[in-house]
Amino acid sequence: MTSTMADSVSTTPVNQRPRVLSGIQPTADSFQIGNYLGAIRRWVELQETHDAFYCVVDQHAITVDYDPQILRHRTLLSFAQLIAAGLDPHRATIFVQSHVPEHSQLSWVLQCLTGFGEAGRMTQFKDKSAKEGAERSTVGLFTYPILQAADILIYQANGVPVGEDQRQHLELTRDLAQRFNSRFGETFVVPEALIVADTAKILDLADPTAKMSKSSPSGCLFLLEDERVLTKKIKTAVTDSGRDIVFDREAKPGVSNLLSLIAAFTERTPEQVATDLQGRGYGDLKAAAIDAVLSFTSPFAAAVADLMADPAELTRLMDLGARRAREAAAPTLAAVYDRVGFVGLPD
Ligand code: TRP
Repeated sequence: MTSTMADSVSTTPVNQRPRVLSGIQPTADSFQIGNYLGAIRRWVELQETHDAFYCVVDQHAITVDYDPQILRHRTLLSFAQLIAAGLDPHRATIFVQSHVPEHSQLSWVLQCLTGFGEAGRMTQFKDKSAKEGAERSTVGLFTYPILQAADILIYQANGVPVGEDQRQHLELTRDLAQRFNSRFGETFVVPEALIVADTAKILDLADPTAKMSKSSPSGCLFLLEDERVLTKKIKTAVTDSGRDIVFDREAKPGVSNLLSLIAAFTERTPEQVATDLQGRGYGDLKAAAIDAVLSFTSPFAAAVADLMADPAELTRLMDLGARRAREAAAPTLAAVYDRVGFVGLPD
């Protein structure tokens, strides 16, 4: 890692582990299997080796049309899913973005360092505003990547585990950190993008040449979906002609996708799974896939249900995360306010 901790801002983690931060939007009733295999599972690993900060970015979720009641529910559900997936609230700092006002406060300062054209070049903004219609798009959607930069920089994060689609936002974050540092003096760690290589790469079950996505519900598995629905989706997954179980994405995309799915949940390679299923039929392959998926999702869904049934415990955990996050964020914000020329008051 090439980033260095700025010496004049004392936010060096006490435990000296490099710090990571990532965020997930509470925009669905359940994480998809891809969110778990691609991102969250990596987050769980990182809490062992890093000082890890993970947040549910509810403020990002209001940049497009939404319903307040649904947002509230999904924020709690997302938080509960992070815990159920294995993030440990005592080892990692797990929190809700709107509980930490320092993100928005830093965001304003960073907005004043961002060029209008620079923000306008963000491809996610261009895509989403094209979808919403240019006139109906909010200014919040436009400044979304700057709030994301603040999420990261306020904690002096060294690394940011994200998918390939977030690379441009990470570049902007790095540019803003460097710009601030050269204009006002060394203040921010310039974070590295830790692009999560989507090794598992599970494709659409109904069309194993397309990415799994919620826009094609029959081919997309959600972690909190009813077991019968998950079972049915796997049972009706597209397979290929022939009857051999071999891992060959070109010749056998459907079979290979199911092998990858099993492999991802059983700590094997798809080739090993294929060898283990040698001489068996597609029915057995699907049965093994159903087993592999449900052996994770059933206890996961039960853990989420337990947490959702205990709002006091959820609140306690969110509060713990928010306190820790605010404590880590405060020195950075104080240094920033001072350097940009805001008049301070005694404590
Ligand atoms: N924009 C990210 C996404 O859509 C979510 C996000 C918000 C995020 N703030 C972040 C990711 C900070 C990493 C770090 O996936």
